[in-house]
Amino acid sequence: MQIITSVSEMQTLASSLHAQGRTIALVPTMGALHAGHVSLVTTAVGRAECVVVSIFVNPTQFSPNEDFNKYPRELEADIAKCEAAGAHVIFAPPADQIYPKGYSTYITEEFIARPLEGVSRPSHFRGVTTVVAKLFNICRPDVAVFGQKDAQQVAVIKKMIVDLNFTVAIVVAPTLREADGLAMSSRNRYLSVTQRQEALAISRALFKARDMVASGERRADRLVAEATHILSQHRRIRVIYVSMVDADTMEPQREVISGRALMAIAVWMEDVRLIDNIVL
Ligand code: PAF
Repeated sequence: MQIITSVSEMQTLASSLHAQGRTIALVPTMGALHAGHVSLVTTAVGRAECVVVSIFVNPTQFSPNEDFNKYPRELEADIAKCEAAGAHVIFAPPADQIYPKGYSTYITEEFIARPLEGVSRPSHFRGVTTVVAKLFNICRPDVAVFGQKDAQQVAVIKKMIVDLNFTVAIVVAPTLREADGLAMSSRNRYLSVTQRQEALAISRALFKARDMVASGERRADRLVAEATHILSQHRRIRVIYVSMVDADTMEPQREVISGRALMAIAVWMEDVRLIDNIVL
């Protein structure tokens, strides 16, 4: 496996792979890889001849009061996990390769990025779309793999691809959960034992909505009320949002249309921000 830290070296490799008629799959990550990320890498393997995993803690998607400085960085362990999962290249640039001094160009998706995460993290998706567009230009993937756990991110990136005429195909891999239902996330490691126990209310709320829909409930307000009730039983949880939205546009829905409705939840578990979702 090759480890590349320079943008120009990555671009040279991507050009030479394409010149040989070989395909590239990209798995963009911020490192601190868990089994959920590993499943993105294994999803990419077999979809292209060269699997590139980018590892870059992107400063522009964190606002000043967020956890950029304490975000876990563990490159050696990440490299070992990617190699074991079958990746061919790690692209792990330092920040000044991606944002050199004087950097001043940003990409903003202005519709899907607005609600949900966009309300409490107003500059987040601007950072995501900017870095993902740069990664697409640097790594020139034929296919890129993202996780369903970040459903709004997926929808925003898909829209950016259409709007800006990128030709990369997107594959969305399912959310991986711990045996007790907690969605895997790099931020789970911040949770104390008690916080982690209470965080199970998030997946319980989503699974309850799924069960209610299976029993015939279609009204979004009732589903949202029940999920909110489950979360509100836990004093460490502060609900940021519980919303029923269209899975592609993130617009609020009154009725569940199967396969199109997404219940999205964000909470503060004391000082740890957690998100999760389910397609109903
Ligand atoms: O999902 C993430 O880890 C990040 O938002 C991404 C897509 C790697 C961009 O920094």
